[in-house]
Amino acid sequence: MSSHLPLALITHTLPEDWLRKLEGQCRIVIGPFDADRLAPELEQRLPEVEGILSLLTIPVSEEVLARAPLLRVVSNMAVGYDNIAVMACTRRGIPVGNTPGVLTEGAADLTMALLLAAARKLPQASQDAREGRWTTWSPTGWLGADLNGATLGIIGMGKIGAAVARRAAAFGMRIIYSDPNPNPVLEADLLAMRKSFEEVLTESDFLSLHCPLTHETRGLIDARVLRSMKPTAILINAARGPIVNSQALYKALDEGWIAAAALDVTDPEPLPPTDPLYSLPNCLIVPHIGSATRRTRRRMAELACENLLAGLRGERLPYCVNPEVYQ
Ligand code: GLV
Repeated sequence: MSSHLPLALITHTLPEDWLRKLEGQCRIVIGPFDADRLAPELEQRLPEVEGILSLLTIPVSEEVLARAPLLRVVSNMAVGYDNIAVMACTRRGIPVGNTPGVLTEGAADLTMALLLAAARKLPQASQDAREGRWTTWSPTGWLGADLNGATLGIIGMGKIGAAVARRAAAFGMRIIYSDPNPNPVLEADLLAMRKSFEEVLTESDFLSLHCPLTHETRGLIDARVLRSMKPTAILINAARGPIVNSQALYKALDEGWIAAAALDVTDPEPLPPTDPLYSLPNCLIVPHIGSATRRTRRRMAELACENLLAGLRGERLPYCVNPEVYQ
């Protein structure tokens, strides 16, 4: 590749064919597949870097930006962008891209999988079968919660929240939600009713989080909130770990303030195997796999490449989270 092409950092190793769009368009340096910070060999290149394609596990902080004076675009291969210092990017005139839309259905599917698994105690039932505790068809064994007729509360009715609502409606659930903005399409279809945050907490049999992680939502689900939920309620978090206070959640599950939790995201990530949450039979934890389908991850990479290339060419990013940079 010619050396006059702009240099882009790809923070993690990705399948080559996911990055095909970049061929001949830029020079790239790629970090290790499991990096949790910018690899030293990438950090060294910051002074000459014009674009960064990041995964959500890497903080693109003010410090990183300060060391990259030529940076013209940050493209995050995720719909969430709480790992990026967006305000600092905006101040520097750097557009930030994300990958909305392509993971909506996959993330909603995983949310329903968590909800169903927790409702019907699949992890415990599966383990009992494997370990010889399936001794008879037990009329009282592994009793779970019904979905039909139950109330699902959704916190954050964006694209993913709405896709969960549509699925849950097909299971016969009543759906209520809390969001600063109403969702007129869902309301017109009589699929969901907007209520206050407190009403959603106290009325829900299942509470599913779909809001972004921001200053306002960090620690939103704390001890007070968990205590106000039904003792039979099940909490599902497929949004961001720090929206839930982990210590409060441990107490809530251990002491029966709520019945169960199913988590695709934790605080911290990865959650170390010694974390007390793993010791609770009523807490199902999976390793942030909401968007982990073959088609979804490929589409996310393609959108991230499109954003990166647009930024390197000085064009408007197709999916930009800080469009004010263009004013
Ligand atoms: C996944 O969590 C994402 O934000 O894309």
